[in-house]
Amino acid sequence: MNLTPGNNDFSEAIENDRTHVWHHLSQHKRYETSDPMVVIEGKGMRVWDARGREFLDAVSGGVWTVNVGYGRETIADAVREQLVRLNYFANTAGNVPGAQFAGKLIGKMPGLSRVYLSNSGSEANEKAYKIVRQIAHNKYGGKKHKILYRERDYHGTTITALSSTGQIQRKGQYGPFTPGFVEVPHCLEYRSQYGDCADYGEKAARAIEDVILREGPDTVGAIVLEPITAGGGVITPPEGYWPTVQEICRKYDILLHIDEVVCGVGRTGKWFGYQHYDIQPDIVTMAKGVASGYAAISCTVTTEDVFNEFKSDPADPMSYFRDISTFGGCAAGPAAALENMRIIEDENLLENTTAMGGYLLDRLHMLKERHELIGDVRGKGLFCGVELVKDRASKEPVDESTAQAIVADCMSNGVIIGATNRSFDVYNNTLCLSPALICTKDDLDAIVDAIDNALARVSA
Ligand SMILES: Cc1ncc(COP(=O)(O)O)c(C=O)c1O
Repeated sequence: MNLTPGNNDFSEAIENDRTHVWHHLSQHKRYETSDPMVVIEGKGMRVWDARGREFLDAVSGGVWTVNVGYGRETIADAVREQLVRLNYFANTAGNVPGAQFAGKLIGKMPGLSRVYLSNSGSEANEKAYKIVRQIAHNKYGGKKHKILYRERDYHGTTITALSSTGQIQRKGQYGPFTPGFVEVPHCLEYRSQYGDCADYGEKAARAIEDVILREGPDTVGAIVLEPITAGGGVITPPEGYWPTVQEICRKYDILLHIDEVVCGVGRTGKWFGYQHYDIQPDIVTMAKGVASGYAAISCTVTTEDVFNEFKSDPADPMSYFRDISTFGGCAAGPAAALENMRIIEDENLLENTTAMGGYLLDRLHMLKERHELIGDVRGKGLFCGVELVKDRASKEPVDESTAQAIVADCMSNGVIIGATNRSFDVYNNTLCLSPALICTKDDLDAIVDAIDNALARVSA
């Protein structure tokens, strides 16, 4: 950390933060008696706060975002160069980094061809829902307008994104919600609703078909799914799940929308999470890791078939996508995203993610042998979850306070981990890990050792 004279007194910033900043996902009463954390610098896998404390960040900026790590000067340079040349023009026109990034991105996504730029994961999903709704109106007389979403998945914070979110506590007190969103069951094998069976994945997918038949296939336009559920507990899909989901979508002419806001751009060891499962989505949304948090950018990517629905009748004044996102025209986003992708390619970060992800999963499985509190370990690439239970036989989840005590213990020992929080009535019991794609075995050892020690202390 570069603490030069004159820039190491952050007491005013802390006081302004305490007095004027409304933090996300935070109950503020505690800041009347303690300082809020103010983060001042980051380098690689580490951040420093205003009190000079150093942390190893196992969650890439708290919410699985800073995929290429902190302090990337080449991204800052690319953004600066772009800003002084052209900072902004509405995306009714193109800009050079936007066009180049779209081309490069599509090169990683066979079968998809169009990129719509906006600012956040929630917004990218809202665009997808508007696309589905407009197709329903233009092609199906408004009937095929329903959008299915899955229990435990999260798709964002706006009212309609929340309407498609399967997390009861995240939604609580924010209704009434947008009509036309219908929940399907989750696919977490550890919490199997279908008993102990060899074809759990197929059964979980068939549960989606049951909902489609109940609602009427001619009313369902799309289904939105996370490839691996993130904030809902790092739920990796069971064997056989995805091919059956794809088959069901094709059978009933339902668009498959994959939400890659967390899994996208390398997190699981491939460019996109869905690419592990040999499926062909119609719409893919992404945000967080697209520019690793160096600029705000999100994308709604579609097939040419979906895109063509919006240009078929130029004589009809309503027949195109009548949507705009002002800051979708900020050129800094795609400039940062292009450089972010170059780094991932040139530093072989997908390969590192696969190798280090395997190492992390192995170490977590070893931890499970040492701690009764661990009921299940799941993950793909540098994206892992550790589900905590009071009792392995009954699988009764620990209280949220236990998971939070482990997070707090790691934090006080200089390691930032995450946990499902205020999402469910009972399942806020999964520790979440998503270190940057640059991490080393030493980093992962330090992370797992911190969890090991925390588990020992909390269960003592
Ligand atoms: C899977 C998923 N989709 C969408 C979102 C919403 O993204 P944002 O917070 O950028 O609106 C999130 C945020 O955590 C997410 O995890």
